[in-house]
Amino acid sequence: MNAMSAVTARVRVEPIVDPDSPAAHSVRALRVAPDQYRYVGDTAFNLGDTLRDPMSEAMSVIADDVVVGFYRLDFAPNAVVGRSLGAPSVGLRAFVIDHRHQGRGYGRMAMEACCEDLRRRHPDRELLVLTVNCINAPAIAAYRKAGFTDTGELFHGGSAGPQHVMLQSLHPHPTT
Ligand SMILES: CC(C)(COP(=O)(O)OP(=O)(O)OC[C@H]1O[C@@H](n2cnc3c(N)ncnc32)[C@H](O)[C@@H]1OP(=O)(O)O)[C@@H](O)C(=O)NCCC(=O)NCCS
Repeated sequence: MNAMSAVTARVRVEPIVDPDSPAAHSVRALRVAPDQYRYVGDTAFNLGDTLRDPMSEAMSVIADDVVVGFYRLDFAPNAVVGRSLGAPSVGLRAFVIDHRHQGRGYGRMAMEACCEDLRRRHPDRELLVLTVNCINAPAIAAYRKAGFTDTGELFHGGSAGPQHVMLQSLHPHPTT
C-alpha cells in the first residue's frame, strides 16, 4: 500500500474509441498477477473485444495522467446477469487495475468516477450491475467501498466459481 499515492492521486476515467491511440496501447500493456487472470482474462483481448462490440464502451482509468486500469461498459439489454433488473441498466465487465498500481485506492476511486461518468453521459441508465467471484476479496472490498451493494443472489455463469451480483444506483446524488 502506498498511502501517499492514495491521498494525492487524481483518478479519472475516459472512453477509448481509437484502437491505435496512446491510451489503447497503454491498456494493452496492463498486467495482473498470475493468480488474478482467472477473474478477468487477458486485458488486450478484452479491449479488442470491447471495441468490436457496438453495444459496449472501452474505458481507461487514469491516475495522475498514467493509464492504470481498464473496464468495459456493456449496454446490451440484460447484460451481465442475462435478465432484466426492472430498470435500465449497464453492465460492468473486465475491470482491472494493473498489479503495479493495486492497493492504492485506485480501484475504489475508478468505480466512483465510473458512476459519475455514467450519470453525466448516460443519464437514462439507472443501475450499474456486475458479478464478482465470491473468493475475490480485493474486488469485493473495492466495489463495496465505491457504494455497490450485494444483492444476495449468486450467479453461476462464470468459469471461476460462483459470483456475487452487485448493484449500484445511478440516480443523481441529492444536492442537500
Ligand atoms: C479488483 C481490483 C480492480 C481492485 O483494485 P485496487 O486498486 O487494488 O483496489 P483498492 O486499492 O481501491 O482497494 C479497495 C479495498 O480493498 C481492500 N483490499 C485490498 N486487498 C484486499 C484483500 N486481499 N482482502 C480484503 N480487502 C482487500 C483494500 O484495503 C481497499 O480498502 P482501503 O481503501 O480501505 O484500503 C484489482 O485488485 C484487480 O485488478 N484485480 C484483478 C482483476 C479483478 O479481479 N477484477 C475484478 C473482476 S470482477
